[in-house]
Amino acid sequence: MEAAPHNPAETELTVTSPEQMRELGRRLAKLLRAGDLVMLSGELGAGKTTLTRGLGEGLGVRGAVTSPTFVIARVHPSLGDGPPLVHVDAYRLGGGLDEMEDLDLDVSLPESVVVVEWGEGKVEELTEDRLRIVIHRAVGDTTDEVRHVTVTGLGGRWASAGLEALSA
Ligand SMILES: Nc1ncnc2c1ncn2[C@@H]1O[C@H](COP(=O)(O)OP(=O)(O)O)[C@@H](O)[C@H]1O
Ligand SMILES: [Mg+2]
Repeated sequence: MEAAPHNPAETELTVTSPEQMRELGRRLAKLLRAGDLVMLSGELGAGKTTLTRGLGEGLGVRGAVTSPTFVIARVHPSLGDGPPLVHVDAYRLGGGLDEMEDLDLDVSLPESVVVVEWGEGKVEELTEDRLRIVIHRAVGDTTDEVRHVTVTGLGGRWASAGLEALSA
């Protein structure tokens, strides 16, 4: 008998300010460990980098997370004994793992938390276990500060990882 495919671990949140998005990143950091890959999706200005900034704060890494102009990947070493944060902005990269290969993410992933903006179609081959975060601007929001965030855990790593804690 075939096992029924279980629903992916998933949680949905509404975030109403940049500061709340950072706070979400700080909370998310508590769930992350070396070897975790986080893929961030959402249009320009959705808040991917803002979320990553909070994540870096939560992980306690060196240097502020920014939107790099020229650098595609930046390593933020831990200020304590936690894993470094590797922040990748793949916006300027074409498709395929070929161009990603120079970044040696496969080498750094086992020891790092790797967060990739615009990584669809580029980094999936790194690991089956991924945390997929999609950020949408709320339609009709006049303040332009409301975001809907969907967090989906793919693979065994996230099957019972307690993503509900994010909305607490
Ligand atoms: N709820 C929110 N979450 C995140 N950013 C927000 C929010 N509301 C407004 N903003 C603003 O939107 C912009 C998001 O920029 P950024 O995080 O660089 O987006 P991305 O990396 O997705 O292109 C920032 O200027 C931020 O202040
Ligand atoms: Mg960005």
